[in-house]
Amino acid sequence: MTESKIHGAKACVFDAYGTLFDVHSAVGRHRDALGDKADAVSATWRDKQLQYSWLRSLMGAYVPFWQVTREALDYAFAMHGVENDVLAEALMGAYLELDAYPEVKSTLETLRGQGFKLAILSNGSREMLAAAVANAGLGPVFYAVLSVEAVGIFKPHASVYQLGCDSLGVTADEICFLSSNAWDVCGAANFGFQVAWINRFSQPAERLPGERKAMIKTLDELPALLRESVT
Ligand code: LAC
Repeated sequence: MTESKIHGAKACVFDAYGTLFDVHSAVGRHRDALGDKADAVSATWRDKQLQYSWLRSLMGAYVPFWQVTREALDYAFAMHGVENDVLAEALMGAYLELDAYPEVKSTLETLRGQGFKLAILSNGSREMLAAAVANAGLGPVFYAVLSVEAVGIFKPHASVYQLGCDSLGVTADEICFLSSNAWDVCGAANFGFQVAWINRFSQPAERLPGERKAMIKTLDELPALLRESVT
C-alpha cells in the first residue's frame, strides 16, 4: 500500500448527499410510478438541486436546501413530462429516509474507535440531515451534524468550510474531509482541508482549483488510509 499523504488529521468531516446517503434511493423506492423515466428524473433532480444551490448562492438568494430540492424536483418533472403531486410529495418524503451506503455505519464506528472526531458538513437543511441520520441509525457516532443553514450560503463557499473549523475547534489542516462530489472535493481542498475523494462512480476529476490528497472508491478504505497517516 502506498503511503498516505494525509497527516495529522484530528477530525473526519463528511459531505452527506452522495457520500453517506444514496440520493437516487428516493426515486428507487418509486421506480414503478415513474417507469422508464425513473433514472432520467433522478439524474435531472440531482443536477438541478446542485445547480440551484450554486446559482442561489451567487444571486444572494439563499433558501434552505429543502426548498431547493423541491424546486429541482418540480423542474425535473416538468422536463420529463411528469405531472403527479402525490408522487412529488412521496419523493420528498423519501428524501428524509435515503439509504446510507452499505459500508457507512461500520466505517464510521471504526474511525470513531481510532479516535477521530466525526461530523457531517452539508448543504442539507437541519431537519433533512437530522431525519436522514436518525433513519440510518448514525446519530451516536457523530460529534456534530453541521448544516449550511448556520451561514446562509451553500458549498463551495469558504464560509461553509470555515463553519467546520469553528464548530469542531480545529484548524483547516486538521480536518480530513470526505466527499463523493468532485466539485466539493475541490472546494474543500482549495479552502485548506486535507481531502479524500470517494470516487464511487469512477468520474473524471473536475478542472477546478484545490488538490485532493487521496482518492478511494468506497469509505471502507478510509480507516487504513488514516491509520497510515498517524504512523
Ligand atoms: C451535501 C451535498 C452537496 O451534502 O451533497 O452537501
